Amino acid sequence: KKYIEPLPIVPKIYGYSTQDGHPKSISLTIGMFHKKWKFHRDLPAATLFVYGASREAATFPGPTIEALQGVPLNVTWENHLPAKHILPWDPTVPVAIAKHGGVPAVVHLHGGVHEPQSDGSAFAWYTADFRDKGPKWTQATYHYPNAQHPGNLWYHDHALGLTRANLLAGLIGTYVIRNPLAEASFGLPTGDEYDRQLVLDDRSFYEDGSLYMNYTGDNPTIHPQWQPEYFGEVIVVNGKAWPYLAVQRRRYRFRILNSSNARYFNLSLSDGLSFTVIGSDVSYLRKPVTASWILLAPAEIFDVVVDFSGSKTSTVRLTNSAPYPFPGGDPAGTLSSKVMKFVVSPKKIKDDSRIPASLMAKYPAADEKEGTVRRYIVLYEYQSATGEPTHLYINGKRLEDPATETPKQGSTEVWEVINLTEDNHPLHLHLAMFQAVRVRELVNLEAFRACMTQKNDAVKCNVKAHATGQRKAVPEHEKTWKNIVKIEPGYMTTIVVKFKLIDRDARYPFDATAGPGYVYHCHILDHEDNAMIRPLLLKH
Ligand code: C2O
Ligand code: CU
Repeated sequence: KKYIEPLPIVPKIYGYSTQDGHPKSISLTIGMFHKKWKFHRDLPAATLFVYGASREAATFPGPTIEALQGVPLNVTWENHLPAKHILPWDPTVPVAIAKHGGVPAVVHLHGGVHEPQSDGSAFAWYTADFRDKGPKWTQATYHYPNAQHPGNLWYHDHALGLTRANLLAGLIGTYVIRNPLAEASFGLPTGDEYDRQLVLDDRSFYEDGSLYMNYTGDNPTIHPQWQPEYFGEVIVVNGKAWPYLAVQRRRYRFRILNSSNARYFNLSLSDGLSFTVIGSDVSYLRKPVTASWILLAPAEIFDVVVDFSGSKTSTVRLTNSAPYPFPGGDPAGTLSSKVMKFVVSPKKIKDDSRIPASLMAKYPAADEKEGTVRRYIVLYEYQSATGEPTHLYINGKRLEDPATETPKQGSTEVWEVINLTEDNHPLHLHLAMFQAVRVRELVNLEAFRACMTQKNDAVKCNVKAHATGQRKAVPEHEKTWKNIVKIEPGYMTTIVVKFKLIDRDARYPFDATAGPGYVYHCHILDHEDNAMIRPLLLKH
């Protein structure tokens, strides 16, 4: 039954102390625990892997870490996971294997600008008590400088070949960087009641309440378990299936994260309400944009204000119309088209919040001319003789192959991202921020694809002659410095990438060229694990 679970408020952990009136840097210990979790009144509890300060405090999703711009935070992420995984894995994709059992895990702060040693490299995984460690493990405590501008981040697991299972099991949480002074002047809704996280996932369950993940692949002779995308039929918000929220007739701020493995959400509101988008991923927009829909790829975040004072019927539904896989798959059905319900109180209420005329107007615009290097990034899918996807690569290369993307720290680059597959892929770069400036259809796609599969070189395959088709506009509410850009099938998407801070003195307070480096990848987790992921190594 839908809309009977109240929407939980995601608990918070403060990433600073304020003992003497000034914010001070602190160190936190956050653990990964296995724990029973109830998604719905009528569903027995499921065992999950979840984050928390203790097993008792651990939740799905994990606590929101509240950080302050300019106040560094240290986190020791402890692995308390059991000897065996609760979900299936596949030894035929590149995967972390622990000699002594246990669940390999490692935490990545998505959107974080931090040193490579604290980035949560897929090869820096470890098991309980650091018994087994991956080849790129360097340290137990991660340093997050929080030197970047205010915005929305999230943390999640990143262990090699296990990311799809570890996130599905529950290893996700949100992270906010605030600048109270700068943000107070906006006048947006504040406080736990009116400024909320909405963490969206899809999950399927067995009748005993445990999480369902397929144990058999689509192409089991090649991959016994791996499937190209996981889709669950139950929509979960803040850890509850199809919840409701009683709201007042006023404005609310929702920081909406899609932490699904593969599902896109095309969200809209019933009752004639719309979203006022104020930010996406780690950045505010330059000014608020009204949107009747927002399309969230996996790992994408939109920061919106919804004004319930305009509700006529007192019932507002949040709905999803994205096909799965996106965009060419099945239409969202009676289950996945419903997300949650807002029950609007009839009483009028005084609302001190407002929508400001401008937000972060000083952020630099994306200017292709600033780019010192132009790279071609090509997304491929490989198929078996029967047409089943066997694996996905970027530029025809594996994660283990030497890095080819080696940008200069402090530079701006232009990446032409070419999608030769049938699906949309959410591209994510660690460390950098980027935005799409041009989306152009590839003409004579078959000929171009044939050439690319042979030569794997966009210039030799005369990409300029092919990238001449129809243009698509980048939606106004996606024009900011992001961590996810949706790459349309059959199109070339031009993104401007900054390997520096966009705020303040534009310099990293650490050496990004040291240690294990970073990665960039598709954030459909089943693609990332097999193996749409490449190294990203910075140079001086
Ligand atoms: Cu959200 Cu490489 O991760
Ligand atoms: Cu993908």
